[in-house]
Amino acid sequence: MARLAFTALFAFFSLGRVSTEVARQATDPCAKIGGQKWVSPQDLRACYTSFPVDPAVKENIIQVINKTLAFHTSVSYEVSAPEPFTPFVHEDLIADLARISSSQYASDYDLHVDLSRTLKRLNDGHCVWINSCYFQDSLFQSFLPIPLVLLTDSGGSQNVHIAPEAFAVASAEFADELQVWQSALPPAITLESLNGARVLSIAGQDPFAAIDANALITGSFQPLGTRQNSYQFGAGWTYIMGDFAQQNRPNNDSALLTVQRVNESHPETIQEYSKLPYRARISAAAVSFNDSASYRANNCLAISGTNGIDLNETSSANTAPVSNTVLKFQQQPPIKSNNKHRVNVMLDTKPLSDVALPPTLAPSSPALPGSFGSGNFYMQPDNITGVLALGSFAGDDFDTTLNGLLQGLVNLKSLGATQLIVDVSNNGGGFICVAEFLHRIIVGPKNTTVPQAGLYTEARDGMLARLIVQQIIDQTLDPEQDLLYNPRNWNNASNVAFASDENWLLPPVNVTINGRADAFSQRLGQECQPFTPAPPSEALFPTSKVVIVSNGRCASSCSLFSITMAKEEGVKTVVLGGKNDVQQAYCGTVGGQSTDFSTIDTEIKTAKLKNNSLAPPDLLVNGVQGITWRLGFGIDDPTQPEEWQPHLANLNLPLTPDIVNNPVAVWTRITEELL
Ligand SMILES: *[C@@H]1O[C@H](CO)[C@@H](O)[C@H](O)[C@H]1NC(C)=O
Ligand SMILES: *[C@@H]1O[C@H](CO)[C@@H](O)[C@H](O)[C@H]1NC(C)=O
Ligand SMILES: *[C@@H]1O[C@H](CO)[C@@H](O)[C@H](O)[C@H]1NC(C)=O
Ligand SMILES: *[C@@H]1O[C@H](CO)[C@@H](O)[C@H](O)[C@H]1NC(C)=O
Ligand SMILES: *[C@@H]1O[C@H](CO)[C@@H](O)[C@H](O)[C@H]1NC(C)=O
Ligand SMILES: *[C@@H]1O[C@H](CO)[C@@H](O)[C@H](O)[C@H]1NC(C)=O
Ligand SMILES: *[C@@H]1O[C@H](CO)[C@@H](O)[C@H](O)[C@H]1NC(C)=O
Ligand SMILES: *[C@@H]1O[C@H](CO)[C@@H](O)[C@H](O)[C@H]1NC(C)=O
Ligand SMILES: *[C@@H]1O[C@H](CO)[C@@H](O)[C@H](O)[C@H]1NC(C)=O
Ligand SMILES: *[C@@H]1O[C@H](CO)[C@@H](O)[C@H](O)[C@H]1NC(C)=O
Repeated sequence: MARLAFTALFAFFSLGRVSTEVARQATDPCAKIGGQKWVSPQDLRACYTSFPVDPAVKENIIQVINKTLAFHTSVSYEVSAPEPFTPFVHEDLIADLARISSSQYASDYDLHVDLSRTLKRLNDGHCVWINSCYFQDSLFQSFLPIPLVLLTDSGGSQNVHIAPEAFAVASAEFADELQVWQSALPPAITLESLNGARVLSIAGQDPFAAIDANALITGSFQPLGTRQNSYQFGAGWTYIMGDFAQQNRPNNDSALLTVQRVNESHPETIQEYSKLPYRARISAAAVSFNDSASYRANNCLAISGTNGIDLNETSSANTAPVSNTVLKFQQQPPIKSNNKHRVNVMLDTKPLSDVALPPTLAPSSPALPGSFGSGNFYMQPDNITGVLALGSFAGDDFDTTLNGLLQGLVNLKSLGATQLIVDVSNNGGGFICVAEFLHRIIVGPKNTTVPQAGLYTEARDGMLARLIVQQIIDQTLDPEQDLLYNPRNWNNASNVAFASDENWLLPPVNVTINGRADAFSQRLGQECQPFTPAPPSEALFPTSKVVIVSNGRCASSCSLFSITMAKEEGVKTVVLGGKNDVQQAYCGTVGGQSTDFSTIDTEIKTAKLKNNSLAPPDLLVNGVQGITWRLGFGIDDPTQPEEWQPHLANLNLPLTPDIVNNPVAVWTRITEELL
């Protein structure tokens, strides 16, 4: 009997070994998508809803977020932001985290979605939770080949359309997947013939309903701007697919559209055929995996830079490794990690786009001298309108950017430019001092540019922050001035440097916001001047002859630049293509300076305060929690943050088929309307 049993058992094991690969494919939902470039959203969801919540990991993430929020300036304000922002920003994060803490989730992914969407409801482009484990927050993005735009016809009515250049974009970017979409259509209808088609409904609803629903999921920053696709000058002319045609999470499997194509002689409402599948593409930065185990091991665990370090224990360069995850989601080209220049930049769950703007739409005239990483200079055909297309305030190293801006504007002037358009479409911010330098060189030395060309700011004044400053002083830490809390890095409101032993967080400025007791630092002065290179002694352009244009997606340092130019200098602002019944804001999140958990963790560790009960633990997963570290004071009401003051554009320029996504045509139209 025993022998027989043994034999049977042996046979069972042998059989198991032969069919391992087949069985693994069938039972491991992540094996199906492993090694693939394009997958279906359904298969992605199957993979990542297959992991249960690990209570220890859940507690760890909640503690990291909650304790990092003590360093985020805006927690109390965001409970209910002042009008007109109240409808968009009313989130009690502390209550949310308590709710999430006591909730049960079907899977670790469901927990992630709740955390991610809770933070996104802030519509704060800095205070964002990203977990790289969840594919669509980094490894996969879902696409449709039909970016949407809001077009205005000759009679002034506005409709949602498939972008006229949709096929050119899709065939260049998605050549290897085009056939999948084409074959979802009836043979008589080519993908190309959908170019410019009017969208009558999406999933049976008014197209705006679907677009607004997407915007709510996407979050990202104060949604008074626009959401359709658009161009950006990043590393070259790039194209943003928009929230409908590019999803960072596999929410939707397909889109059912009713459209009316261009050149149809009579209204043609086409149903059903146009049910296009979303297809998810793996990003070049993904770490490959074959199955659940390698997926989790390669993409979900903390990596170098996820957590901070004690700078006093590093022998070599006393700079912390910068999290690659942070760099990937900052809306600026990656900056050098040993960079000491402070940034104010959006974090987004979509990486910076590298989809190309079709060459037929990009400017054909050569970029002029001074052009650099994310900044190109052009002269319009009228020979008097100079253009600076600026996709980021951190598109190159700091010095190259400053020198390029100065050289480019001086050169435009020498070529005869008497007026200037600054196009900051999709500019998510960057170096704070670059924003201030550009303000200063355009308008010259004035009491609004010297010594301070930006905003006065304040930091949050929590107990742990105060202790960090005190430790830096008492232990004479940070000789290289790497730490944010080092008094030697900051000036007081009279622009006088703090003494090296001055705890600048004492005494705190106690305030009550939305009924909550909160505390901030004293007002901080400028930290950018004197500038190198030396700015010119006169204005380069008269402010009445300068226009700033964007698609409304201009944030952080881009907001700092646009706001000071508009409110202090009277420069006109234009938003491209917004709905005509919505007053458009020329910028979103303002902040003052942004940072993240890892950087705060370095401050805490270097100050030997990791054991303090207020210190967040080391993060176990490959995640990022962003924050606003300093908040700028307002210009019209200097007692309140600029964040919650209106930023209404002078002109909401309607996009017509002849100018949509065509920068030169847009600039020409703006010259006609405003210069
Ligand atoms: C988050 O921190 C606050 C203190 O700021 C504390 O009262 C609350 O209990 C914490 N929430 C969780 C879920 O730990
Ligand atoms: C897309 O997915 C979201 C989230 O699941 C859902 O709310 C929305 O209705 C879906 N949109 C369409 C057009 O199916
Ligand atoms: C519509 O017709 C015009 C004139 O024949 C042509 O130039 C254009 O390419 C057509 N558009 C589409 C989307 O087929
Ligand atoms: C996946 O499998 C292939 C082939 O078996 C192997 O070469 C590769 O190293 C594996 N990758 C991972 C991440 O396990
Ligand atoms: C602009 O300058 C170019 C080159 O010097 C010249 O060919 C063109 O005619 C000028 N255009 C106008 C409108 O003056
Ligand atoms: C700056 O100077 C202008 C006059 O040139 C004056 O009206 C304004 O009050 C001054 N502002 C500040 C902040 O000193
Ligand atoms: C390390 O700590 C010592 C003693 O507290 C201090 O003198 C030194 O400047 C610190 N070095 C760094 C890089 O923080
Ligand atoms: C800034 O510091 C200087 C020097 O200590 C002091 O005279 C001045 O009053 C301070 N300004 C503010 C606004 O605290
Ligand atoms: C601010 O509040 C703290 C208690 O949280 C108190 O110790 C301190 O004296 C207050 N500061 C001022 C300037 O009122
Ligand atoms: C934290 O506390 C533990 C145990 O009390 C101790 O071993 C460790 O050295 C402390 N770490 C720091 C950074 O003070």
